[in-house]
Amino acid sequence: MRHEHLISAKQLSREDIETVLDRAAEIAADPEAVAEACDGSLLALCFFEPSTRTKMSFETAITRLGGDATDMGGVESSSVKKGESLADTVRVIEGYADAIVLRHPSEGAAKLASQFVDVPVINAGDGAGQHPTQTLLDLYTIRENAGFDDLSVGIMGDLKYGRTVHSLAHALTNVDANQHFISPESLRLPRSVRYDLHEAGANVHEYTEIDDVLGALDVLYVTRIQRERFPDENEYRQVAGEYRIDAELLESADDELTVMHPLPRVDEIAADVDETNHATYFEQAHNGVPVRMALLEAML
Ligand code: CP
Repeated sequence: MRHEHLISAKQLSREDIETVLDRAAEIAADPEAVAEACDGSLLALCFFEPSTRTKMSFETAITRLGGDATDMGGVESSSVKKGESLADTVRVIEGYADAIVLRHPSEGAAKLASQFVDVPVINAGDGAGQHPTQTLLDLYTIRENAGFDDLSVGIMGDLKYGRTVHSLAHALTNVDANQHFISPESLRLPRSVRYDLHEAGANVHEYTEIDDVLGALDVLYVTRIQRERFPDENEYRQVAGEYRIDAELLESADDELTVMHPLPRVDEIAADVDETNHATYFEQAHNGVPVRMALLEAML
């Protein structure tokens, strides 16, 4: 992975995945061992959209590896506000940093940026496209809690606009998981993703009701309805709040069910789930640090 861009989860082979996850587990067990692994490296954080977890965990990761981060700041406080193009922005920033972490509202932005620079570009979310580093921490959390053998994962909510879903579906295909997609008809997986999964031989099932599959799942990955991606607010209102889980619903799930969410949540997981043994989403967010440490160590 050294000096390569990471744009899509489609780039990750099973071997890549296992290598990063194994290294992340070693780092989580002994973070001091890598305290100087990226000594002198500078990571540029270029976030054209809001972020809490991705941005802060990348910053934490590079700091714990002995490196440092420089932050472009939001769109409002950078020269993007003056109309500077993405291409010019990243061409300038590659002169300051050893790698660029980029989040952008446009699908394909990370791929485009990577064509203008020689330092690695890490896609931290491009519109409704991909979010491959989220996928690595999701897989780490799944492997820790449920393992990859004979794995059944339910993915529920906004499958149309959810970039974490699109990335995760590709990676779950690589670990031979059974994939169960639960959504309203209007928020089904995009045709292009379904086609790719079919071509890759994925084991895919689709539902509109969670009750039809809940009892068969090892992992339930809940997602937020991506309000900011709907072209029409009325369309959002028609589906908002429809796909929600609570502690009562989970009484019919397997005792060992792992409930995940990339976060932030709005109301799709009730607060009473937080008190159950199923809730794994905060652990999942925390796993972002060792996983991104392992990734940065490999790339830098
Ligand atoms: N999961 C995720 O990408 O969270 P942020 O938007 O806070 O980075």
